[in-house]
Amino acid sequence: MHRVEKSYDLYRRANELIPGGTQLLSRRPTKYANGVSPVYVARASGARIWDVDGNEYIDWVSGIGAIILGYCDPVVDDAVREQIGKGVATSISSAVELELAEELCRTIPCAEMVRYAKCGGEACAIAVRIARGATGRDKVLFCGYHGWHDWYLAANLVAEESLNSHLFPGIEPIGVPKALAGTALPFPFGDLAALGQLLDDHKGEVAAIIMEPLRSERPADGYLAGVRKLCDERGVVLIFDEVSSGFRFGMQAAQGFVGVTPDMAVFAKSMSNGYPMGAVVGRRNVMEPAARMFISSTYWSDPIGMVASLMTIRELRRRNVSEGMWSFGRELQSRLNSVAGEVGLDVHCGGLAVHPHLEFVSTSPDQKPVLATLFIQEMAKRGCHGYASFYLNAAQGPTELEQTAAAAREVFTIIRRALDSGDAESFLECPRQQDAFRRLVR
Ligand SMILES: Cc1ncc(COP(=O)(O)O)c(C=O)c1O
Repeated sequence: MHRVEKSYDLYRRANELIPGGTQLLSRRPTKYANGVSPVYVARASGARIWDVDGNEYIDWVSGIGAIILGYCDPVVDDAVREQIGKGVATSISSAVELELAEELCRTIPCAEMVRYAKCGGEACAIAVRIARGATGRDKVLFCGYHGWHDWYLAANLVAEESLNSHLFPGIEPIGVPKALAGTALPFPFGDLAALGQLLDDHKGEVAAIIMEPLRSERPADGYLAGVRKLCDERGVVLIFDEVSSGFRFGMQAAQGFVGVTPDMAVFAKSMSNGYPMGAVVGRRNVMEPAARMFISSTYWSDPIGMVASLMTIRELRRRNVSEGMWSFGRELQSRLNSVAGEVGLDVHCGGLAVHPHLEFVSTSPDQKPVLATLFIQEMAKRGCHGYASFYLNAAQGPTELEQTAAAAREVFTIIRRALDSGDAESFLECPRQQDAFRRLVR
């Protein structure tokens, strides 16, 4: 029987009933080694997942970043079970809403007031609405990926390639009202002059700049402080999208790590160890006007996500998770780099250690996706699910490191052989990985 037969049977059936097959693009098998990577999970625990065919994997995607402590963390899950016993979706609010707001304001540098959401894209849409409402301006400058909502996809109404380098090419803004054309404008990361020019071109019209402060590379010295200064000079609300970065970079989140405090920040995936939850936090002067705006939803008061988030943040602090991730990431990079050296493959595991990624150094741009796909394919066969990059979580430890380094030794050898053959593509048992999200840096 084919190793992942059940997964692909289910996926075929899903495509008959669910347009696009999955709810999240990053869960589509086309984003991995399509036909080899697992598609459906039976269960997850700690650093691992088991697919519906019974294969076990180390999950190097960590729930696409939603998992930070590890799957089924006992402290978080016990608190969730306790809350289920107390009831959910009650007609009046739960005091945990306030408890979490106080915790977020104590923890995150820019947080003086808080609103909630259920996911990252939604939280970004709320932040943009608040910034527009607070400034009375319509235009938003953005860099990177910020969800699926109209305000963001409107960027592709003017020029269909606007999102190419921020997300991926070929996104048609189908269903986005044409009247929004010109309201969301992309800017390139790292180029202060370009951003200043854009602000000049749209003087007095820009409500907000929304961006990830960093991802897996450190921004150039002074860049984010320069963005902050431009915002201050022009009365523009600076929003950091911390949906993916968040507490991975430390207890003060990425904004603490880079030492630049935005006016607002958006959190989701890494704040609640997988339970649906999102938050928009910010300075009082920007957040307070939201009291008069119509921003309202039943499930934003869901106590499950809030309890999960409260426990996750407390456990991140108590276990000193971020520091552990930095050193674990450095160890992973060094192990993979020494394996590459031993095997004689010109691949480098680099980037900031909390989010390492592989770079096939001397390979032509056309061959890089082939080698990345080959890596994903061969690692999957050896019980490691992921991309050519690594999302860390606190349940990963020495066993995962050993197993991954041993698998990488075999896989790097195969890749070297593929390169030596002059026809690396013939080593693929699947199509090339479809454009991974480019986001902003990597
Ligand atoms: C930076 C950033 N913003 C927004 C989102 C959207 O979050 P969600 O998928 O929870 O809507 C993501 C998701 O990957 C993200 O990485």
